[in-house]
Amino acid sequence: MTTRHCDAEIPDSPRPPYPLVSGYCDITCGFGRGSAELGIPTANVPIEELSVEFNNLSLGIYFGFAKVQAIDKQLSVDSRSDGTKVEFNYGRYLSKEKDDLNVLPVVLSIGKNPFYGNNFKTIELHIIHKFNKDFYGAKVKFCILGYLRPELDYTTKEALIKDINIDIYKSLSVLSKDSYKSLGSLLDD
Ligand SMILES: Cc1cc2nc3c(=O)[nH]c(=O)nc-3n(C[C@H](O)[C@H](O)[C@H](O)COP(=O)(O)O)c2cc1C
Repeated sequence: MTTRHCDAEIPDSPRPPYPLVSGYCDITCGFGRGSAELGIPTANVPIEELSVEFNNLSLGIYFGFAKVQAIDKQLSVDSRSDGTKVEFNYGRYLSKEKDDLNVLPVVLSIGKNPFYGNNFKTIELHIIHKFNKDFYGAKVKFCILGYLRPELDYTTKEALIKDINIDIYKSLSVLSKDSYKSLGSLLDD
């Protein structure tokens, strides 16, 4: 795996302020481009549900673990800011047998997505796992164990996808080390 100029050095074990552990947060809908355009779905969480330690982090790309939880609520439909409809199923199709509810590796983007020119900060989690369906309205708690790189602008969508795939590869490699892997237990209930 080639090293990118933007890559931060990752220590052998997490150093303060990591690990940072969230409580269960709502999964809201973003603009939906992660899934539709990039093929990299993300779960957005409201920044106001996170502590000041999370909100003080520099904009950029991070890695850690996440755990999703379904909530018992009727299906409903909401609208994105562009008017397209989104079904909130609150995680009713998540499957314990398919490991959807396990502690799973995650890459996170905290930022304004310069490629898309957002004018506000979002926190988006790409959970590295094959889910069969969306789970808008479910809950997710997560821990951040380290920083990968700053968020960047790109000239093509393909370049952004390529970098996210490198982020995923690097994260999986670090998270497989005992000193990081053992911290998945921070998300045990
Ligand atoms: C691991 C990861 C890395 C990302 N890196 C960048 C980045 O460097 N620059 C950027 O503009 N957006 C970055 N994004 C954000 C994507 O642009 C964003 O997920 C996409 O706009 C979809 O958001 P939406 O579903 O709210 O439309 C990253 C997302 C993830 C999950």
